[in-house]
Amino acid sequence: MKKKYVFANWKMNNLKEDVSSYLKELKVLVGEHPLYHHVVICPPHIHLEMVERDRPHVVNLSGQDCSEVPKGAYTGDISAAMLKDIGASYVLIGHSERRQHHGENNALLQKKMQEASKAGLCPVLCVGETLEERESHSATEIIRDQLSIIEGYSGACLMIAYEPVWAIGTGRVPNVEDVDQMHQTIESILKEFGLQAEAILYGGSVTPQNAAAFLSLDSVGGVLVGGASLNPQALYSMALGA
Ligand code: PGA
Repeated sequence: MKKKYVFANWKMNNLKEDVSSYLKELKVLVGEHPLYHHVVICPPHIHLEMVERDRPHVVNLSGQDCSEVPKGAYTGDISAAMLKDIGASYVLIGHSERRQHHGENNALLQKKMQEASKAGLCPVLCVGETLEERESHSATEIIRDQLSIIEGYSGACLMIAYEPVWAIGTGRVPNVEDVDQMHQTIESILKEFGLQAEAILYGGSVTPQNAAAFLSLDSVGGVLVGGASLNPQALYSMALGA
């Protein structure tokens, strides 16, 4: 099986002590049996340095978001260059929680994609439809609109995460055939733009129980895991690729 990606999106969870014990446990597990898939941890920005310092060396780092501007008077924001500087290789862009709670729209996200790639990060553009949009059969149209911001994208690296909003943190997942179909649709939209993603990830209620089914699809280049990734044992078992 091709090596794929397992992204651990910690969201706004874990205090220093939790990060420390998580990394200790992960190191022990990795020492016992090496990981098969690529693992990328997306900690809250304040913990990036700690994860960078104490991570098992095979684990890479990602930001959960970055600013749309390179630097300046933007209180509370973190630039893409700062993420790169602290050791991140990736950054999530347009996660549905950012779209929902911070009103992030296509125009803003297009700037973030550019900033991320200019800083040498691989941006992971998150797209996904709501339940209402899915039930009204407009999922493909929504995804196409969310992807429209990368028409003309010229960065060295690009990843997409397909995360149906209704599957995030709900325990509900689309069936594997639907994921396969949407990933193929995404691939063909990218092709229209003359683009190819390093990987198209699936995200939304991924667990050690269902990860293998998604990862077995050729169209799925990895998984973006939220809740389940807060347990190092669970992250480890998904990354073993067994
Ligand atoms: P979840 O989150 O695995 O808890 O559903 C996924 C995500 O939001 O990236």
